[in-house]
Formats: sequence, C-alpha cells, structure tokens
Amino acid sequence: MTTILGIETSCDETALAIIETREAAGKFECRVINSLVHSQAELHSAYGGVYPNLAKREHQKNLPVLLTKLMEPLYGYDFLEKRPGIDRIAVTEGPGLEPALWTGIVFARDLAEKWKVPITPVNHMEGHIVGSLLGSDAPYGTWQELKPLPLPSVALLVSGGHTELVKIESVRGEAGTYVKKNLWKYEILGATRDDAAGEAFDKVARLLGLPYPGGPHISVLAQKAEEEGIEPPVDLPRPMIRNGSLDFSFSGLKTAVLYAIQKAEKTRADADGRLDDDFKKGMALGFERAVTEVLESKTRAAIDQTSAKSLILGGGVSANRLIRERLARLAYSLDIPLFLPSKHISGDNALMIALAGAMRGIEESSGDITAHGTKKLA
Ligand code: KG4
Ligand code: ZN
Repeated sequence: MTTILGIETSCDETALAIIETREAAGKFECRVINSLVHSQAELHSAYGGVYPNLAKREHQKNLPVLLTKLMEPLYGYDFLEKRPGIDRIAVTEGPGLEPALWTGIVFARDLAEKWKVPITPVNHMEGHIVGSLLGSDAPYGTWQELKPLPLPSVALLVSGGHTELVKIESVRGEAGTYVKKNLWKYEILGATRDDAAGEAFDKVARLLGLPYPGGPHISVLAQKAEEEGIEPPVDLPRPMIRNGSLDFSFSGLKTAVLYAIQKAEKTRADADGRLDDDFKKGMALGFERAVTEVLESKTRAAIDQTSAKSLILGGGVSANRLIRERLARLAYSLDIPLFLPSKHISGDNALMIALAGAMRGIEESSGDITAHGTKKLA
C-alpha cells in the first residue's frame, strides 16, 4: 500500500489531498483519506478573472493552513518534525499560472526534504483524466477499484484554461484495457485557437452581469430558460463546427453574444439600460447550446477518426449539465463507455493529482522539478 500527498496550485484553487493506493490480482485500488480545496474565486472576482500574483500570495498563505488541517487529525500535532506515514508527494508542475505553480512546487520540495520522500511531478490535464476514471462518489475511506480504460480512448478536456481533444493509446499501440498510466501515451488531436470553453463561459457570464467564475451561473440560467420555455433571443454561430479540423474557436461566439446584448440594450432594455431576466436566461441557453453542439460534434469526429473504444470528459466545464447529457447520449449511441468525474471533483482538486502521481508508478524524481506554465501532455 502507498500513501500519497497530492498538492495542486495551478490556478486559483489551493488543494491538498491524501490517498492510499494498492494493487492486487491485476486490480488497482484507491481510497481517499481526505481532500481539501480552498477556492480563491471570491477574491479574484473583483478582477473578473484570476490575477496570478494574488493567486501566488494566497497559495503561500493557504498551503500551511490546509496542511495542518489535513495532517494533524491523522498524524498528530508534530507531523512536520516526525516522518508521518506519507510515502510520496505528487505535485502539479503545469500547465497553469507559473507563479501559482511555483508555490506548490517549493512547498512540496520542502516537505519532501523534511520527510525524505520522493516527489512525482504531475501534469494537471492528466490529473483531470484520471479524476474522471475514478468517477464514483464513494465515501472517503472506502476502497474503490479504478475502472480500466479501453484503449484507444478520446478525452475531451474542458476547463478555464484548456479545451483539448486528446487521443490516449497504449504505448505499444495495441487495443486493450489498461489501468496503469505508464502504459499510456497521448496525442493532442485538437485544441482551442483562442479562448478555452470555460473562459468563454466566464466572459459571457461577465457580459450578462454574472459573478466570476460564470460557468455555473450560465448553467443555472440556461436550465431556468428550459424549464420556463424561454427560447434564445438570437441564433448564435457554431464556430468551426464542420470545417474538418478538431480545433476549436470560441472568441467569435463571445463577440456574437456581445453584439446581441448591445443591440438588445437599444431595443428592449428598461429606462436604466438594464436587460430583463428572460433575455439573460435565453442568452445563457443559446450560448450553452452553441458551445455544447460544437464540443459534441468535434468529439464525435475525434472518436470516428481514432476508432476510440471509450470516451472521457474532464475539466471544470464537465460539471455542465447539458454537456454531460449530450456526451452521455453520444457515448451511448456509439456503444462505448463514458468516464465522467463526479461533480465534486470536476473542478480543480488535489485528489486527482495524488492519483495521477500514484498511477505513474515508481518513476522517481529528485528535487529539480520546475513549473511549466504551458506544459503539454506527453
Ligand atoms: O478545471 P477548472 O476547475 O480550472 C482550470 O483548470 O481552469 O475549470 C474551471 C472552469 C471555469 O471557467 C468555470 O466557469 C467552468 O470551469 N465551469 C463551468 C461549470 N462549472 C465550472 N462551465 C460551465 N458549466 C458549469 N456548470
Ligand atoms: Zn483544471
């Protein structure tokens, strides 16, 4: 059995988690001991997005507090001085905001030195992939078998910083069902050329006067529009939907929303220039549908091209109800399994980082880990 401490500070969530993993009879099992996430969203909302140096300062402040909260109940008040039962530390090395990544890496190095344990650097996007494999909502402390992944697989990764379609295949190229990640290799099939899907949600939310991060707020308004039978006030474009490439572009969609809002402000706003709630709900629904249709169509094309035997949805935007529903329908119609993260780990967390570190296996690494703001899956 291996006990891993995961550390995640790539963006505006400071997160720490402890998990245990074990392998027996070809099964890879994991149980979560505890997972803590401290979101800085409220602080950053004043800037309408994440402010890197503020994120860094907050991580520096929050990491020791979270560590004590996590470790003291398990290993006692003197956990720092004695060597607690941690066998390995997994830390996010990228992609993300460099100043924010560095705080996690430096923190991990200090602990590793004190406790004389190895560190495994983890790619944040790989973390989202394995978080989706864990899937279920099993209570903390319960052993769960990690679901084997039929390869080749396609992963749609949608977050605030990324929108990527990734092909996962076995290192040796044959089809089969694999659990251990050191048997996988990645190929990025397509990515956004401008805004990430989550970024587009956040920017459109801002145009509609909703707080940051806006994705969940758009989602709520869109659902209300559906329930109340409100239709989108304008037809929005589906950028690049049938151009044959697996790349995405969302900035034109955001501009189309901006123009529609500016036009509506002249024709249907109240005396104070405010737009009515029905307009906002309809706009949210129209935007959510446009993004979802593009994601669904490109994912279908990626599965076709790669003859994928499974589909993974990961990243913060995977919490979106319509996107989950449409991809579930797509996987069902193609008769392939869909791996979705449970909602509480769809956003950034350290559980997925610890798990990704564990699945890498015995890949030792010294203290020379560096932050890679733009690190790609490899
Ligand atoms: O993966 P994540 O937590 O952080 C990054 O690595 O970027 O993703 C955060 C993004 C934000 O843009 C947020 O607005 C979006 O995920 N998001 C959603 C929903 N919940 C979170 N977007 C659409 N619908 C949601 N329900
Ligand atoms: Zn993320």
